[in-house]
Amino acid sequence: MSLPFIDLKSQFVALESKVRARIDRVFDHGQYIMGPEVAELEQKLSEFTGAKYCVTVSSGTEALLISLMALGVGPGDEVITTPFTFVATAEVIVLLGAKPVFVDVEPDTCNIGAAKIEEKITKNTKAIIPVSLYGQPADMDEINEIAARYGDIPVIEDAAQSFGATYKGLKSCNLSKIGCTSFFPSKPLGCYGDGGAVFTSDPALAEACRQIRLHGQSERYVHTRVGVGGRMDTIQCAIVLAKLSRFEWEIQKRIELGEMYNRLLDGMGVDRVAQKSDRTSVFAQYTVVLDRREEVREKLKALGVPTAVHYPVPLNEQPAYSQHCCPECTPVASSMSRRVMSLPMSPDMSLDDLNMVVRSLKECCNA
Ligand SMILES: Cc1ncc(COP(=O)(O)O)c(C=O)c1O
Repeated sequence: MSLPFIDLKSQFVALESKVRARIDRVFDHGQYIMGPEVAELEQKLSEFTGAKYCVTVSSGTEALLISLMALGVGPGDEVITTPFTFVATAEVIVLLGAKPVFVDVEPDTCNIGAAKIEEKITKNTKAIIPVSLYGQPADMDEINEIAARYGDIPVIEDAAQSFGATYKGLKSCNLSKIGCTSFFPSKPLGCYGDGGAVFTSDPALAEACRQIRLHGQSERYVHTRVGVGGRMDTIQCAIVLAKLSRFEWEIQKRIELGEMYNRLLDGMGVDRVAQKSDRTSVFAQYTVVLDRREEVREKLKALGVPTAVHYPVPLNEQPAYSQHCCPECTPVASSMSRRVMSLPMSPDMSLDDLNMVVRSLKECCNA
């Protein structure tokens, strides 16, 4: 029998009565769109992150799109980001007619190399989107400092994988002008469908995001700006509210399991994505770095250990994005994309299962 890569079933069993009670309440009041759970969740999440405002939206992708729209990004503009991410990060830039400018990643964390950002800034740079990959924030202080020096370029943290992580004591999503997260089911804080949120402490940006998610409406049938249908369903907000009751425990479990993996793998000499000491990761993925990856993956699969690759191809090597940057310009992302491999990780994973994964990996690497 194979282990689950992410164990959503055990999580549901633990939360079932809370989830069902929350959903029942939505059926009772019947406000399926913009019901009271939407504002309740926004309040709780802004308290959790420390950002003044939270605007829930229909997905993490929509959170990024709405943020860029709120900043007025459009044709002719450039947005600096990493090529080593899920496609949504760059997709929203191109959808708005702007150009993604890819900056290579650090070889140890796989996050955007802050030191390489400055040389890519031009008069057209309208935003910088670092991604907190695998659940660990990027070098946000350095990135904010560069952005400030060039006329306060807005920094949007793509925190789709890092909700609950910290950086120098502050929560992910509250580390720059805007933070965007995803509640996709497998994310550290997931719903049972699509969902996401934008965080900011800037009241004008928060209001712009609120209007844009509702077709640009400032009041009913007054469309002040162009927007999208980007609301998060009341039922999905209710599910996240139920999941919040156990979220702190889940973060601690993720950190404990991540540290256990670190210790065991260090002992075996297996390379892994580095964790920096001034920040915590929520290990959306636990990722190792190895040669002969495909061979090892096949062997692990035969032993009942599922793995995943985030991401097998950097975005500047994807057909739809390759015109924006050559592969040779981002050699670290190219090399890491061929070597990274994520292992099973969920808060409900037992230590026995984790030990079994590590034993199997050892067997496969030595074979
Ligand atoms: C880094 C990153 N950005 C954006 C997204 C998009 O989030 P969603 O799937 O909720 O649209 C994801 C989701 O996989 C992601 O991992």
